[in-house]
Amino acid sequence: MAKPKTKYVCQACGSVANRWQGQCADCAEWNTLVQEAAEVSSIFAAKHNLQGGGRSIALVGLDTPTALPERLPSGLAEFDRAVGGGIVPGSAMLVGGDPGIGKSTLLLQVAARLANSGRPVIYVSGEESAEQVRLRAVRLGLGGAPVRLAAATSVRDILTTVGDHAPALLIIDSIQTMHSDLIEGAPGTVSQVRASAQELVRFAKERGTAVVLVGHVTKDGSIAGPRVLEHMVDTVLSFEGERSHQYRILRAIKNRFGGTDEIGVFAMEGAGLTEVPNPSALFLTHRGEPVSGTSVFPAMEGSRPVLVEIQALTVRLASGATPRRAAVGWDSGRLAMILAVLEARCGISFATAEVYLNVAGGYRLQDPAADLAVAAALVSAMSERPVPSECVVLGEIALSGEIRPVAHAALRLKEAAKLGFETAWVPKGVKGEGLRLAEFANLRGLVDQLLAR
Ligand code: TYD
Ligand code: MG
Repeated sequence: MAKPKTKYVCQACGSVANRWQGQCADCAEWNTLVQEAAEVSSIFAAKHNLQGGGRSIALVGLDTPTALPERLPSGLAEFDRAVGGGIVPGSAMLVGGDPGIGKSTLLLQVAARLANSGRPVIYVSGEESAEQVRLRAVRLGLGGAPVRLAAATSVRDILTTVGDHAPALLIIDSIQTMHSDLIEGAPGTVSQVRASAQELVRFAKERGTAVVLVGHVTKDGSIAGPRVLEHMVDTVLSFEGERSHQYRILRAIKNRFGGTDEIGVFAMEGAGLTEVPNPSALFLTHRGEPVSGTSVFPAMEGSRPVLVEIQALTVRLASGATPRRAAVGWDSGRLAMILAVLEARCGISFATAEVYLNVAGGYRLQDPAADLAVAAALVSAMSERPVPSECVVLGEIALSGEIRPVAHAALRLKEAAKLGFETAWVPKGVKGEGLRLAEFANLRGLVDQLLAR
């Protein structure tokens, strides 16, 4: 019989080695390997055979509903809509957005509304002094709201303090300024942001306090750089808009307690953010009178719809010279294809015209679903007949001139309706609520419709 081989067990992690080493290969601890003894191996067995020794967990059937705690409506209807009908107690939320877009203003308003309805709310700022936050609240006409303020950056201090008050809502503005003493590193580093968020999320779950983390968006658009934060929280909201424009959109990117296809629309005004229940006024005054050569396309950015304007300009050439074709934000090969289909299938020739195509706002479109909107802008520019300004256009064009259906049509149309659009020119068979749909089986039909205007 072969002599049983001596084994060495790490007392730190329980892993087994065949020979003695100064450092454990698994957990990298030093001087923890000891020759296997009966006792050690039973500890090892207990560690690695997980049956027995634990608590028994209650199992629930799919047919037994567990009551979700009731949502807390903040009273700011557009905010409540975006989060799926109110704040869920004990949930963790991340609100991201560019610096200066209005995150602090939004959350101060949410805090004040909720506090006014009798719920305890604590607002912790790591960026401004409590006095600065208070002055802003007074400017917003919220000076009387019973929100408790603090300026702090130590997660330990914050949780110790907040633990005594058991608030319904805790706002942390911003997570990048927080630091946890459980790990080393300066505030704002990936590991600090992660550790701080972990502590705060755990607090939310344990105490039933809803925690909102404000996060700045980095240049590449992700919140706080690492995506880890997005995995740790229940809901991720993004607050978007152009700083030079008034309107702001609050959009759920992720929501464990609701859908992600609702948005909240606000306008930034002198007295803070006002709700815009009917965004058409805001959006369409901004667009103004219908102009020939433009169309609006509901694009998708990941899983999110974004409305973009497509602009076309055609300039007649005297003769002879080769006409220029230039496209910004759109593939020039695809532009040539659409021009060819318009000529071959609809008899509209661009042969003697220069064609310029631009996607407004520096947006890059790569989605063939925009074909029909591009064609509409081109025909509109050529014929000087505007596409109605409250109309969105979507559909992919085949070489035969047929219009093909596109992905996420319902979601795109929902966003358009929310933003105040009234009609949509779409491929045959597309369904959408809240808009009058004109369905087209082929490009010819759309051209006829446009030229008849
Ligand atoms: P803020 O909420 O501080 O943005 P964030 O927290 O996202 O960095 O908002 C900053 C901008 O909002 C600031 O440039 C001024 C503008 N603003 C208004 O136009 N009206 C207001 O009532 C307030 C409070 C801010
Ligand atoms: Mg701020």
